[in-house]
Amino acid sequence: MPCRLRRRWLLRVSDGIDGPLLGSKGAPQLTHGELRMRTETAVPAENWRRLGKAPDPYLQRIRDVVYQVAGIFQSDENLPFLEECARKRMQAVDANSLRQYYDRLTVRRDREAELHRLVGEMNLGETCFFRNPLQLEALRRVVLPAICQDKNRPPCHHVRVWSAGCATGEEPYSLAMSLMETMEAEETLQEWTFEVLATDWNNGFLEKAKEGIYSLHALRHVPPSLQQKCFRPCRDQFQVTDEVKAMVSFHPLNLLEEHSVSWAKDMDAIFCCNVLIHFDGSAQRQTIQRFHDSLLPNGYLFVGNSESLYGVSDNFRLVHFPGSTAYRKVCLQSPAAGVI
Ligand SMILES: C[S@@+](CC[C@H](N)C(=O)[O-])C[C@H]1O[C@@H](n2cnc3c(N)ncnc32)[C@H](O)[C@@H]1O
Repeated sequence: MPCRLRRRWLLRVSDGIDGPLLGSKGAPQLTHGELRMRTETAVPAENWRRLGKAPDPYLQRIRDVVYQVAGIFQSDENLPFLEECARKRMQAVDANSLRQYYDRLTVRRDREAELHRLVGEMNLGETCFFRNPLQLEALRRVVLPAICQDKNRPPCHHVRVWSAGCATGEEPYSLAMSLMETMEAEETLQEWTFEVLATDWNNGFLEKAKEGIYSLHALRHVPPSLQQKCFRPCRDQFQVTDEVKAMVSFHPLNLLEEHSVSWAKDMDAIFCCNVLIHFDGSAQRQTIQRFHDSLLPNGYLFVGNSESLYGVSDNFRLVHFPGSTAYRKVCLQSPAAGVI
C-alpha cells in the first residue's frame, strides 16, 4: 500500500467518539472498497464550513439511527459520505428530503429493511474467501488441535465456530472448508463433528450467503484443491457444494442486541473480523463482553488484522501464531460459582 494512503488511513481510524480500534499489527488488511471508504470518501470537517453550511439536522438524526441500531458511527467529517449514501437511497424510495428519508427510516413498517439498504450503500459488506489465510492456518494447526485435546471426552466430540458479521458468507464457508480439510487429513478427528454458526445484521447479505453462488473472481484466493472439491459450476458462476453448506447455518443477528447474542452459546472459537472497526468504543466493549460470555473457557476470538482489544477488554489474553494472532478467553474466578 502506498505510504501516503496508509498514513491517511491511520489518521481516519483515530476518529470516532470513543477512540476506535487502532491497527496493532502491520498493514491493515482492508479490501479496496473499505480503503476507498476510509480514504477518498473521508471529507474533512472544514468542507462543511467551506461550503458555508452546517450539516442538515436530519442527516445528523440519520447518523444517530445508524449508530443506535447498528453501532456504526459516522464522524462529522464522514457526514458528507453518509449524505451521499442517503441521497442514493432517497432516489430509490422517492423521498424528497432528508427529513422524509429520516421518517422512512424510523416510522415505516419496513424501516429496518431500509436501514439495511442504507448501510449496504455504505459498502460495509466487503469480504472475500480466505481473506486472512494465516488465521485459517492457525485455526487448523494450533487452535483446533488444542480445542479437541481439551474436549476429548465423549459426548463432547463437537466443535462450534461462530462467524459474527459474516456478510455474504465467504468467511463462514472458508472456515467450513478449512475444518473439512483438517478433518479429512487427521485420522484422530474422524469422529468429530464441526458446526459453523454464521450471523449478520443484514438480511440481504444473508440471502446471498445462503444461496452460496459466487463469481470466479470471488474464488481467487481459494486454494485450487478446495476450488475443485468445494464448488460446482452453476450457470456462469460457482456454487458452494451441499456438503460445505451443511456445515454452516445462517441467522440474522444484531451484535448490539443483548437478547439476540445471548443464544449464541458454548462457542469454541469466534471470528469477528472487520466488524468492530465500524463500532465506537462503547459498542466494541459491549460486543466483546458478549463474546466473552458466548465462548467456552479458553475459547478463541479472532478479529481483523487492523483490529485489537487493546483498551477494549482485559478479559482476553493475546496469543501469537505464525503471521497472525488471536485472543484467548481468560476465565474469571467467581468465589461462589467457580470458573465463569
Ligand atoms: C466488512 S464486513 C466483514 C465480513 C467478514 N467478517 C470479513 O472479515 O471479510 C462487515 C459486516 O459486519 C456487519 N455488521 C455491521 N454492523 C453489525 C451489527 N451491529 N450486527 C451484526 N452485523 C453487523 C455488516 O452487515 C457486514 O456484513
